[in-house]
Amino acid sequence: MLIGADYYPEHWPASRWETDAAMMEQAGLTVVRLAEFAWAKLEPEEGVYDFSWLDQALAVLSAHGIRAVLGTPTAAPPKWLMDRYEGMYNVDGYGRKRGFGSRRHYCFNSPDYQNAARRIAAAMGAHYKNHPAVLGWQIDNEFGCHNDEVCYCEHCRREFVRWLKIKYATVEELNRAWGTVFWSQTYRSFDEVILPGYAQCDGENGRNFCHNPGLLLDYMRCRTDNICAFLQMQVDALRQAGSRQPVTHNFMGTYDRIDYFKLAKGVDFVSWDNYIRHQWQAYPFEEAALAHETMRGLKKKKFWVMEQQSGPAGWSVMGDTPRPGQLRLWSWQAYAHGAQAIVYFRWRACLFGAEQYWHGILDYDGVPRRRYREVAQTAGELTRIDTLLSGGMPVNETALIKSYDNAFSHRFQPHNPKFDYNALLLSYYEGLVRNGVSCDVRSIDDDLSPYKLIILPAFQLLTTPMAKKLEDYVSRGGQVVVSFRSGAREWNNQMTERTLPGLLRDLAGVTVTEFNSIFYGEPIAVQGPHMAATASIWCDLLEPDTAECYARYAGDYCEGTAAITVNCYGKGKAWYVGCDLDKDGMAVLLGDILKGAGIAPPVRGLPDGVEAVLWKQENGRKALFLLNHAKTPAVIPASSFSCNLLTGEPVSGEWTLGGYETAVLG
Ligand code: GLA
Ligand code: ZN
Repeated sequence: MLIGADYYPEHWPASRWETDAAMMEQAGLTVVRLAEFAWAKLEPEEGVYDFSWLDQALAVLSAHGIRAVLGTPTAAPPKWLMDRYEGMYNVDGYGRKRGFGSRRHYCFNSPDYQNAARRIAAAMGAHYKNHPAVLGWQIDNEFGCHNDEVCYCEHCRREFVRWLKIKYATVEELNRAWGTVFWSQTYRSFDEVILPGYAQCDGENGRNFCHNPGLLLDYMRCRTDNICAFLQMQVDALRQAGSRQPVTHNFMGTYDRIDYFKLAKGVDFVSWDNYIRHQWQAYPFEEAALAHETMRGLKKKKFWVMEQQSGPAGWSVMGDTPRPGQLRLWSWQAYAHGAQAIVYFRWRACLFGAEQYWHGILDYDGVPRRRYREVAQTAGELTRIDTLLSGGMPVNETALIKSYDNAFSHRFQPHNPKFDYNALLLSYYEGLVRNGVSCDVRSIDDDLSPYKLIILPAFQLLTTPMAKKLEDYVSRGGQVVVSFRSGAREWNNQMTERTLPGLLRDLAGVTVTEFNSIFYGEPIAVQGPHMAATASIWCDLLEPDTAECYARYAGDYCEGTAAITVNCYGKGKAWYVGCDLDKDGMAVLLGDILKGAGIAPPVRGLPDGVEAVLWKQENGRKALFLLNHAKTPAVIPASSFSCNLLTGEPVSGEWTLGGYETAVLG
């Protein structure tokens, strides 16, 4: 287990570094991330490198037992570089250059930028390949974090054309796949193909989503490949320079505009940035949990949190200061879900720059106070428990399937203004948490056989081999849950002409006879023997073929029509959920599904706000993390676990877990 901080020695006089390093050591920190925005200091002029300050910082830190992940600084290209070559800026959908003055203002496909990025990565690789304190690399920083996953410049168009030629071979095939006969969009050659930037139908404040859906989807797929290539180019540069240190990139949790399963293939380990509440967002604990699970699912192994919130956070306004106990709780949550390193962002709040308000462990004055003490306590506890549980891993019997292709498609055409693919995934995850279990996050391409239950919400883009894979899985005894819109489209983003749910119709044993996007209308009641719920976004009207009805609509014109069905298929079962559900309804449904699938929670009857994460240790024994996300104490029902490894105290019968407290049961 590594605990650390994101540290910016270049923001402070060198005379302070020793104090910082000593304070870090004192708190039990053993790792820092450095230099990911320091290009102008590392290469002040083209081809002139200055690593002396970074060497000196590493020397000070390593004297205190602290090692570093170094960032390649390509997220912040310096002014001299942007002035030196034409056409390196990112261009928005309106054709406007997204200029200098913040960061990530570059185009992944600019050959000049790629050369500059390759050179700085190679120079750093050559300089630090044998440095004992450099334990790895972070390539760039948060690809896509400022909508820069897209760019509409001419380099990007040419790259898209190249990509399309490989994919489609002939322009006739492209025209067919996209359906360009619609509105006379037929292309006579690949070179005529456009990027989906600003278009007539967008109006004055458009979102650029009125383009052909096939074009939009392929554009996003191409962008992922471009970004993967940019990452790979830097990894190659490091390797050619002789560095063997592992590489990572800091991902962004539930962000879904880059296919993270693909991006993760290019790194040795995944890391991500976990900000629970800040200027732009405050997410519920289930969302943090789902993000951790997604990050662990990308490579099916433990991951790092490269930036863990450690203070009030914002750029122009600040989110609430984490309350006493929350930093510790968030860290335990990360660890429970499989973090093998937690690096707090940032060591100390900066006196200048756009992130003056994004606080760290220390405030501006650099005096250690409550948050420092909490981090130190957490570092000690985590290290101790990690020694005890080393080799252990979270274990789940359920997999939630995430599809970035589907996320792209839903984003352009969400069906309903209230629909959001990520939010739907989260609603299923929350339903699992309410039943005391967690799940793995997997791609449809992964091996699904270890799971008793798999859930694929709104999986609309679907291929025949995928449908076949699901049928095989269920016929062998698995249980699958699909929801409205699953099977509604072809992989190229065209609507299917099959009767819905398309390729899933046999498996689900149900026909969708009609659907209703609840836009202006009232929410619709969904009732079953166990359920009194509400749908407020979407209703599929179902006609069971071989399936049985689990719940029906009540009220409105669909009164009495099946809403949720379950079909026996081979040795397993396929559930079809034709509507969205409120939280209680989802919890009831998933409770019944879990029970039917033979998945029992490790502790029954956990109160709301308490999260359970089950581990299997190397010796085969189980450990259970209980995290109380509420600020008030929670009563924990009796279970088969006998000891709280964190306090060393025995547990038996009913007992109380304090507000923001964690227990590690063994
Ligand atoms: C992201 C970036 C950091 C920092 C924080 C806070 O996570 O990776 O560099 O900007 O946000 O804004
Ligand atoms: Zn571009």
